[in-house]
Amino acid sequence: MENTSFQFEKRSLDILKKALYEMEAGFENLPETCEQFDYDKIEEAMMALARRMRDNYPYFHPLYAGQMLKPPHPASRIAYMLSLWVNPNNHALDGGKASSRMEKEAVAKIAEMFGWAEHLGHLTGGGTMANLEALWISGRLHPGKKIIASEQAHYTHGRISEVLGIDFQAVPCNAQAEMDMKALRAILEQGNVGTVVATMGTTATGSVDPLPEILKLQEEFGFRIHADAAYGGYFTLAGNLGSSARAALDHLVRVDSIVIDPHKHGLQPYGCGCVIFRDPSVGRFYKHDSPYTYFTSSDIHLGEISLECSRPGAAAAALWAVQQVLPYDRDGEFARNISKCRAAAVELYEKIRESGRFLTIFPPELDITVWAPKGKKASEISALSERIFGKAEEKNLYLAIFRYPSKLLKDIWVDVEFDEPYVTCLRSCLMKPEHDEWIDRIWRIIEEIQV
Ligand SMILES: Cc1ncc(COP(=O)(O)O)c(C=O)c1O
Repeated sequence: MENTSFQFEKRSLDILKKALYEMEAGFENLPETCEQFDYDKIEEAMMALARRMRDNYPYFHPLYAGQMLKPPHPASRIAYMLSLWVNPNNHALDGGKASSRMEKEAVAKIAEMFGWAEHLGHLTGGGTMANLEALWISGRLHPGKKIIASEQAHYTHGRISEVLGIDFQAVPCNAQAEMDMKALRAILEQGNVGTVVATMGTTATGSVDPLPEILKLQEEFGFRIHADAAYGGYFTLAGNLGSSARAALDHLVRVDSIVIDPHKHGLQPYGCGCVIFRDPSVGRFYKHDSPYTYFTSSDIHLGEISLECSRPGAAAAALWAVQQVLPYDRDGEFARNISKCRAAAVELYEKIRESGRFLTIFPPELDITVWAPKGKKASEISALSERIFGKAEEKNLYLAIFRYPSKLLKDIWVDVEFDEPYVTCLRSCLMKPEHDEWIDRIWRIIEEIQV
């Protein structure tokens, strides 16, 4: 089919075909086997699928400026697809020889990005599984002690703690939606805290917990620190952060475990989270035997150091491939693109602030901008936010809305009457580097919206 449409990149499909022949050549000593399929039926199903898939928001397009969604790189798309002709399973070297090695290399690059000389880690199905493993290790190291995370941390931490049977407590936030250090100290003084989860970029507002101060409290109280950098971890490569986010990310070198999602800012398709531990000896907690696998090599099998069993080798291949094209160098293209996302978020914030028509909360620390239309009461603001959200979609601009606690806004929106405990606000995750060039257009659409 001709490459006539301008929405979807298709040139990489030619490379995929070429690479498929290259990979096949590695198996040419085997007797030929080529299964026969009903290609008419496959085509029919694919065309039906293509039409069904039209019923999606255009996540790949810069006018999609809503939820935390970022398109995978063409290299990761075709690497993933290429791998599927072999369909490796990274549980064990028995099922995923080459891709297990690629996973180890790719995860080492992530650990290196945070300045870690040593690590133990692996990919996971996503940030939730990765956080579960990190908190499971925390619980094993500090049995009977609490896990605490800010009230703006991802809801997953409370749920995971429940699954693990570990007590969980939320730490109040300051006006920047960061973990409040006075509140943290008060909880630490009560005792029995095993682990503090520091969120390196909250899902709602992109706020970064003050890690240097948490580390100071660690010296006094002695607890484990897990950093949930699922969304914000790659910003460690950005060249244009504010001083507090910069300092927090620079201190990741000192935490005990980190979760980062390559399927958020790492240009990967969904199904690619990652957990790393600074002390490789925590591998002892994973120790188990498998009667079915671990036979083909005495090298470490990834299933021996992870809770999930079968995992897609394709995810490792895709991550590895993108790292070849766009290495995690501080002055490289990958890093520049991360900086562009933050620049876009700041630019949008400035336009919103200067317009005088909207309420802002605080400047974006990473690449999430949050704002709301002006109103006298919280309920009025919420209703207007929802109307703007709907009207924007009519104009092909896709924003997100979310409920933000009134108590975090009271000192910022001093003229607003808070008649409800939450205020619905507008939220834009500007996760595509192209957003940097699209902000003017996005802003023009926002300006045109009358509610
Ligand atoms: C900070 C943070 N932690 C954890 C998660 C959960 O990750 P996943 O959706 O990959 O399971 C998210 C998802 O948005 C997140 O933003």
